[in-house]
Amino acid sequence: MADLIARLRDALGPAGLLTDAADLEPFAIDWRRIFPGRPACVARPASTDQVAAVVRLCREAGVAVVPQGGNTGLAGGAVPDASGRQVVLSLGRMTAIRAIDPVGLTMTVEAGCVLRLAQEAAGRAGRLLPVSFAAEGSAMVGGAIAANAGGLNVVRYGMTRGLVLGLEIVLADGTVVDGLRALRKDNAGYDWKQLFIGSEGTLGIVTAAVLRLVARPRHVATALLAVPDPAAALRLLTLAQEELGDSIQGFELISDTSLALVARHHGLASPVGAKGWHVLIEAASSLPGLREAAEGVLATALEREDATDGVLAESGQQAAALWALRESVTESEAREGRSVKHDVSVPITAIPAFLDEAGAVLAAGAPGTRVNAFGHMGDGNIHYNVLVEPAHDADAINRLVHGVVDRFGGSISAEHGIGQYRVAELARHKRPEEIALARRIKAALDPDGLLNPGKVLARS
Ligand code: MLT
Ligand code: ZN
Repeated sequence: MADLIARLRDALGPAGLLTDAADLEPFAIDWRRIFPGRPACVARPASTDQVAAVVRLCREAGVAVVPQGGNTGLAGGAVPDASGRQVVLSLGRMTAIRAIDPVGLTMTVEAGCVLRLAQEAAGRAGRLLPVSFAAEGSAMVGGAIAANAGGLNVVRYGMTRGLVLGLEIVLADGTVVDGLRALRKDNAGYDWKQLFIGSEGTLGIVTAAVLRLVARPRHVATALLAVPDPAAALRLLTLAQEELGDSIQGFELISDTSLALVARHHGLASPVGAKGWHVLIEAASSLPGLREAAEGVLATALEREDATDGVLAESGQQAAALWALRESVTESEAREGRSVKHDVSVPITAIPAFLDEAGAVLAAGAPGTRVNAFGHMGDGNIHYNVLVEPAHDADAINRLVHGVVDRFGGSISAEHGIGQYRVAELARHKRPEEIALARRIKAALDPDGLLNPGKVLARS
């Protein structure tokens, strides 16, 4: 290892390599402090060529590389194991925005650019980079791509995958593949970039990307409604789709447990009733009449008793305050104590029945737990997080919840990925031929198994 560290220092210079224990600490563990690891060192390349050099040197030494962006993931996909023999490759120095084309609606950005800075740069060019989630102030573009991040506006713009037009990748043997084409249509051969998006750094390392931008809608309407139950929230979704059409860019469900946690740990209170379920709807359009349409949705929902109260934000500031309630749920949950997270999706129409059944299964199989359910109802994606005491068995709880997910034909990871957290569960829930296919892809692209081993797929 000492020899490899010396070579890495030669290749990267002193600023490009961290070896002191105190410097390694932030890269060794995830932000929730659930997946502790111990890297041999942290390589901080400043260019694509330096990333390639790190990968080549590690390969020659037979040492595994763990790519890391903002380290905001929820599945432990970006932290090393505890062996002290893995090199963390931090993309944090590759921050350049290489180009913005406001007419062609694209931006070319390096992997280590913080998502919010990329959004702001797009904003300065009068355009919108629509991927958005609570951790965007620290998450990096490369990590969002490697995880195929979802977030708060998937209902309109799709997952990160839908925004990636081109990728620059470093392969496991150090080859740089430049696919930074800003094309909307490109059927010339395999669309190989799709393999790397969502592969969590196990097939190659994203160093830069061409992202799709959109025109910034002139009007935004944000409303928070108190609803009697998830079935009413579902009816509200249909009403909103009929009245607001494609302008809906967020449709979030928040339980009363979530709101109680946010009140306790962030001191934020809902303006529309303290108890029961809430729905946060946001629509945006450049056409006139959006506000009137949103008011109509609110009035109809109240009239049909699918909402018991509601508020339509009067200003950007008020809209931000409504979003703060939703975006503080995860951090409040972390402050509350230990939780077993589930990031599930089921067909949208099945959400009320899923919530009922999962609640009943947990009450019977894991008494004493509390459910903190919230999430992206418009995408069928619920964060069905279970607050537990030390005596509770996390694996047993996973099996109970994922069993219900299976019964509804759902997925055990809608947007957070598999990382190290869900490796065993993935093997239980995917068909054997799907796992075998994934292994063939892994073997073809990373034959020595040195790219983020043990993530997504169990080590073979
Ligand atoms: C969110 O949507 O806030 C996060 O993806 C969810 C979580 O903390 O489980
Ligand atoms: Zn989410």
